[in-house]
Amino acid sequence: MKMINAKGFFIANALVAALGWGASAHADDAELIKRGEYISRLGDCSACHSIPGKAEFSGGLAIESNLGTIYSTNITPDKQHGIGNYTEQQFADAVRKGVLPDGTRLYPAMPYPDYVKINDEDMHALYTYFMQGVKASAEQPAETDLSFPFSQRWGMRFWNWAFTSDTPFQPIGGASAQINRGAYLVESLGHCGSCHTPRGLGMNEKALDSSDPQFLAGGNLNGWEVPTLRGMPRWSEQEIVDYLATGRNDKAAVGGEMTSVVEHSTSYMTDDDLQAIAAYLKFLGGNPPLVKGDTQAAQATEAKLTAAKNLTTGERLYLDNCGACHFVTGKGSPGIFPELDQATIVNAQEPGGLIHTILAGAQQPSTARAPSTLVMPGFAGRLNDDEVAQLATFIRQGWSNNAAAVSADQVKKIRENLKH
Ligand code: HEC
Ligand code: HEC
Ligand code: HEC
Repeated sequence: MKMINAKGFFIANALVAALGWGASAHADDAELIKRGEYISRLGDCSACHSIPGKAEFSGGLAIESNLGTIYSTNITPDKQHGIGNYTEQQFADAVRKGVLPDGTRLYPAMPYPDYVKINDEDMHALYTYFMQGVKASAEQPAETDLSFPFSQRWGMRFWNWAFTSDTPFQPIGGASAQINRGAYLVESLGHCGSCHTPRGLGMNEKALDSSDPQFLAGGNLNGWEVPTLRGMPRWSEQEIVDYLATGRNDKAAVGGEMTSVVEHSTSYMTDDDLQAIAAYLKFLGGNPPLVKGDTQAAQATEAKLTAAKNLTTGERLYLDNCGACHFVTGKGSPGIFPELDQATIVNAQEPGGLIHTILAGAQQPSTARAPSTLVMPGFAGRLNDDEVAQLATFIRQGWSNNAAAVSADQVKKIRENLKH
């Protein structure tokens, strides 16, 4: 009896499995597709593969590199114009190694040197999402056409050999599960190092994981300094979480290329994932020691601006144009107007970000957690190059700030770039 029962049970089970396959697979897939969509947010795939006015993930973003202009491709499941024919293995090889099914090598404008660390489980969810959760689009984006010798994609074989690694993510021994979750997100999907790690001679990221002190030690994007993320001594974990979730915290507001990262990726992250990233950044060593703000100098600037007598040109321009929002204290108003005293962007070695912000203004991204958008107006039309230089010099040397002066020439270059 027992035997028959067991056998009957197995047959029934097999039948249920055979007949019910469609229905149960459907429920499982829906879960997996949702998970894959979240993974695509962590990886910020849409930042490069979606452009306004075109179908999602249909490509066509022009990425300026020092090799020339590289266009992102259509990664919707369209079989002719997209990646609809890719098997999971082929998809994984494109994302992790930059190698297409026909052997074509991708340029590292696609951040595969970081994505190589995406684990199998996340890759499976990502693939399922792109095949089943994304709408196919027959959009044919512009083709990348670089000049010789960069047009020779096989050359990337050597670049990959020299500069990429196929080591999967290595957990940090002895660190907590939370810190390791943060390390995984930052090193792999988040590809934070593609902007925050200095680049070497081959335009390669000088380090790809936490074991190297150059990892996240700061970079540069067209003259806009990308700050180091190591240790973040001035910010609490909660301030890091707030910045990534909403684009602002009590000290700073997001600007430059980081605005899009917050808008399309980090603002979608769960609180657990944001906290893991914050814990990991705090954990990283090798950070410069926290320079205590010079309170005496800060008070002297505040007193001079308050008295408004014998002002330098920079000080007067500040009172006339900036003081209403950033105040004579240079401390702004927490969560509304960011600090200029001690701010990373103000004290950066390269003043590009500061000059850019004065000329073009800045706008907070609109996110689910902070839908309102605060705007700082641009001053390109009101201040000439020399005035911006004097103003920026005052800001970089006022209060407890301590950075080099800015020249009218530096402003002129950035103003010209803005016109393009
Ligand atoms: C920083 C920009 C950037 C990000 C972020 C990015 N990609 Fe790409 N991707 C590119 C570019 C540019 C190419 C084309 C490179 C070339 O032509 O050599 C590309 C190519 C690809 C290809 C090859 C497509 C084909 O035509 O066969 C796939 C697949 C792909 N990306 C998937 C992804 C996925 C999945 C994500 C998110 C996890 C992602 N990409 C994030 C820029 C990006
Ligand atoms: C109407 C109010 C207003 C005025 C006037 C104003 N700002 Fe701002 N400023 C803001 C806001 C709001 C932000 C944050 C924008 C965002 O979220 O991206 C900001 C951001 C900044 C930042 C970036 C801070 C960071 O944390 O990255 C700098 C630098 C800055 N302002 C400097 C100036 C200077 C210099 C002037 C005068 C020429 C000025 N601002 C005038 C409101 C103002
Ligand atoms: C496309 C380039 C790019 C990528 C990718 C990127 N960042 Fe940034 N990030 C920047 C730039 C540029 C700034 C400076 C913004 C400013 O000056 O207002 C910045 C600023 C920051 C800051 C503020 C630091 C400070 O001292 O003011 C934090 C925190 C940060 N990024 C975290 C991250 C994390 C975490 C990731 C990965 C999930 C990441 N970034 C990915 C470009 C990038």
